[in-house]
Amino acid sequence: MAETLLEAMALTKVYRVGNHMVHALRGVDLTIERGECMAVVGESGSGKTTLGNLLLGIEPPSAGVIRFQDREMPAKRGRELRRCLQVVQQNPMSTLNPKRTIYKSVSLPLAVHNLVPRGEIRERAAELLRIVGLSPDYLDRYPGALSGGQRQRVALARALAAEPDCIVLDEPTSSLDVSVQARVLELLVELQQRFSLTYLFITHDLSVVRNISTRVAVLYRGRVVERGATESVFAAPRHRYTQMLLSSIPVVSEDEERIKPDWSWDKEMAGSDRVSEVGCAFFPRCPYVLDTCKSKLPILGDEDSEHLSACHNPG
Ligand SMILES: Nc1ncnc2c1ncn2[C@@H]1O[C@H](COP(=O)(O)OP(=O)(O)O)[C@@H](O)[C@H]1O
Ligand SMILES: [Mg+2]
Repeated sequence: MAETLLEAMALTKVYRVGNHMVHALRGVDLTIERGECMAVVGESGSGKTTLGNLLLGIEPPSAGVIRFQDREMPAKRGRELRRCLQVVQQNPMSTLNPKRTIYKSVSLPLAVHNLVPRGEIRERAAELLRIVGLSPDYLDRYPGALSGGQRQRVALARALAAEPDCIVLDEPTSSLDVSVQARVLELLVELQQRFSLTYLFITHDLSVVRNISTRVAVLYRGRVVERGATESVFAAPRHRYTQMLLSSIPVVSEDEERIKPDWSWDKEMAGSDRVSEVGCAFFPRCPYVLDTCKSKLPILGDEDSEHLSACHNPG
C-alpha cells in the first residue's frame, strides 16, 4: 500500500513586487508517495521553484496547507522536520559555500542532527562521497576546485547526509553539459533504488524525467494542468500545453510522432503575457481554443482518477 509522505493542498503563493501582485502558485494540489519520484514540469516562471520552496519551508505559503506524514506542517519547523526534507538546487556554486571545504559542507548535517558519533564524522563524510561517486580525496578541497558535475555530487552527498525522507531536486542537471547531465541522472536513479529515496524532481525539460519519474505533474502559470503516471502522460498527453512541451523533445516512437501538433505559430505567442483571469491561462497560446476556454476555468477533475487534465478541449 502506498504511503503518502507529503501533500500540498490548495497551495498558493502571491508575491508583492512594488504595488504589483505576482501569483506564483494558484492552488496546487499534489501528493508525493514514499519511494516515488514525482516530477514537476513546466517552463520558466511556472512556479516550480516556488512550490519546492514552500514544501521545504524556505518560504511560507500565502494560503493552503502542507501535510507531512499525515500531519499539518507547522509554520515554524523544528530541526527534525527540517532534516526530513532536503534540497539539491540548480546551481551548486551558489549553494555550496565557496569558503568551506567539501568536508565542512558534507559533515555539517551529520553534526547538526547528531547522526553519527563525533569520532566517526570524517569517516561517514568520506563514505558519503564514495556513495555519490567521488573520491574521499575531495574532502579537503574547496568547491572552486571542482567541476559542475562534481559539485552537484557534493550537493547530493550533503543532502543524503541528513538521511532525509524526501529530496527536492530543483533542476539538478540543468546547469550541466549533456554528457555530465546523463551521468548525474544515472546516479540519481541508482541512489533512489539503493536507498529507497523519495524525490520531487523539478525540471523545465520533460525529456529529463522520462526514465526516472513515477508520475508527472505539469505546471502552467501556477496551476497543475495535467497529472498522471509518466508512461501515460508521455504516451497520451491530454492538455494542449503538455503536448506542446512534448512536441519540443525528440520522439521515441511513431505513435508519439502522430500526436505531435504543429506548434510553429506558438513562437510568437510564447512571449505573450496575456493571462486570462477567468478562463484557461493557456488559451491565448492554444490552437484548439473554444469559446468556453475564455470564460471558464478548466479544473483538474476527479481526484481518484490516475490521469487528469484541466482542459476543456483535451487531446
Ligand atoms: N521572491 C520573489 N519575489 C517576487 N516574485 C517572485 C519571487 N520568486 C518567484 N517569483 C515569481 O513567481 C513566478 C514563479 O517563479 P518560480 O517559482 O521561480 O518559477 P520556475 O521555478 O518555474 O521558473 C515568476 O513569475 C517569478 O518571477
Ligand atoms: Mg525554478
